[in-house]
Amino acid sequence: MSPTVEILSDQAALIDRAHQLTVETIQAAIAARGRATLALSGGSTPKPLYSSMVGVDLPWEKIYIFWGDERYVPHDHEKSNARMAREAWLNQVPIPAENVFPMPTSADDPATDATKYEETLKNFFQSQSDEFPALDFVLQGMGDDGHTASLFPHTQALDVCDRLVTVGNHDGEPRISFTIPLINRGRKVVFLVAGESKQNALSQVFSEDADPHTYPSKFIQNGSDCHWLLDAAAGAGVPSQFK
Ligand code: 6PG
Repeated sequence: MSPTVEILSDQAALIDRAHQLTVETIQAAIAARGRATLALSGGSTPKPLYSSMVGVDLPWEKIYIFWGDERYVPHDHEKSNARMAREAWLNQVPIPAENVFPMPTSADDPATDATKYEETLKNFFQSQSDEFPALDFVLQGMGDDGHTASLFPHTQALDVCDRLVTVGNHDGEPRISFTIPLINRGRKVVFLVAGESKQNALSQVFSEDADPHTYPSKFIQNGSDCHWLLDAAAGAGVPSQFK
């Protein structure tokens, strides 16, 4: 199934559309399965989307929050993705604490914490040992280099296909990350990408011949429903046949 690409006029329109899609997906998941499971991304782009979710009338007790990746820092660190989402959104809505599953970063060993998070996912989804659970809404960002989650170009994490969670590496800095197969199992995978600096990587991700090891977002070919939400600046990089 080819991806859906929506190009919005500017960042404000992009966030409005992302907000609408997020709420719709949550509501549809709850209607269909009695709960909504989300994986959040970090970075700066999603922050206004998270803030826009404050004040929305949703059955928060039926919503479960995971993260698709995390920097290997304490949860109160300024670089923490969990801290960013809590401050922008989760601390300001009545979501039960037990519904929020930040990636652990306290074992002083990223591989140990990656395994712990894998166990958390397997227990929550009651998935069999070799099964990849399907989250309802998997939010992805994309870096200027085409990375997504903490799956960076030409790193080992790109080749981990038998695990749910692995250790990423960004310039020697360890990260915890969903693996490509887990992201691709998402019922809806939404890329939220803004800014001129993303143009080149986007043109590569949407090109036939670019190497996904160089532009890892290209590995995310979600079978069911991959949705790219771009602002005009970033979207200029997408070949016309996708627009
Ligand atoms: C992270 C993210 C990462 C991010 C991209 C884009 O931990 O930083 O999960 O994959 O989505 O780097 O970041 P921006 O939104 O800041 O451009």
